[in-house]
Amino acid sequence: MPSPPQGILLDTELSEHSPPPQGAYERSYERYPAFEGLPFAPVAHTATERHERPPAHRLCGYGKVILLGEHAVVYGSHAIAAPIPLAMRASVQKADEHSGASLSITHDGVTHQIEPGATERDVPERTVQLILAQLGLAGHTLQIQVSSTVPRAMGLGSSAAFAVAVIRALDWHFRLGLDDAQVNVLAFRCEELAHGTPSGIDNTVATYGELVLYRRGEEARTTAQIQPLKISRPLPLVIGVSGRGSLTVETVAAVRKAWQREPVRYQTIFRQIDDLVLEGVQALHNEDLPRLGALMDTCHQHLQGLQVSSRELDEMVRIAHEHGALGAKLTGGGRGGSIIALCPANRERVASALRAAGYQALEMDLG
Ligand code: PMV
Repeated sequence: MPSPPQGILLDTELSEHSPPPQGAYERSYERYPAFEGLPFAPVAHTATERHERPPAHRLCGYGKVILLGEHAVVYGSHAIAAPIPLAMRASVQKADEHSGASLSITHDGVTHQIEPGATERDVPERTVQLILAQLGLAGHTLQIQVSSTVPRAMGLGSSAAFAVAVIRALDWHFRLGLDDAQVNVLAFRCEELAHGTPSGIDNTVATYGELVLYRRGEEARTTAQIQPLKISRPLPLVIGVSGRGSLTVETVAAVRKAWQREPVRYQTIFRQIDDLVLEGVQALHNEDLPRLGALMDTCHQHLQGLQVSSRELDEMVRIAHEHGALGAKLTGGGRGGSIIALCPANRERVASALRAAGYQALEMDLG
């Protein structure tokens, strides 16, 4: 692997990572007023809640986009990811009627109720059971309510955001005093349940809510390298949402199978992705958006090589280019889900063209 550019990166251990400043989430909310009232609106906080509750970022798990490096990051390459102003928020109440923890998840005004003892396939329920067991809270009679603005299975980190929100809500309810590193480690365990062999990047961004350069530990569950990346101007992006759901556990397993069949070819692609991620850090540092856009394009081609793109994702990438994006790529697990397009100019044009083609488009400044 090439070494990170000097002077920008420092390897930071999970436990040494400092949490975002208090109120960080409210600030980022104010930066995205355009999302108020839309289906994917960020979580709003009332004045009363602000006084009675801990800072909002202590109760939410962030969604994310991967700017560069998905899939290869599972095999030890670097990746860059940013939180998005879409989040999950959870609250916990003591319940009387039933034993165990019941769970309700509200998204787009629709509430899905999951009773204790749901089926094996029910990842949210199993995630909650894992969290309760790990925190020594199994057997408590609870009602856990989750409100979500992160679309599920769209490559935007919804499972990690869910885990972080539930952990933080239990932490607050039982006054456990967990720090962010503990939240992150437990959310990683939940990601193992949801994804099989996660890199840990989703839970990291869901926990810390910062733009980061990430590299997993050498072995599963060993300390990851997390480097917050500071940029002076946020990145003007469009997220194109295909509407076709895709399970990361399946795309990650498919890449693993293919890698086992053709290790040299896949390893070469992972290494090329690693190189371009590190170049991406330099481009971010230099505010060189044309270069960053070109790296996103190359990354998308590599992801096509890994067989994780799809007709819809390729079409959205093409539309973004045709309407003036500097670069575009799928983000997250792929085969469905979302793309990101870098649009310092023509952002509305790109978003409108995606909508006209039947996709959902979200305009966001990230980082
Ligand atoms: O699809 P998402 O949002 O869960 O992102 C998955 C990112 C991968 O690199 C494909 C998997 C991982 O664990 O890093």
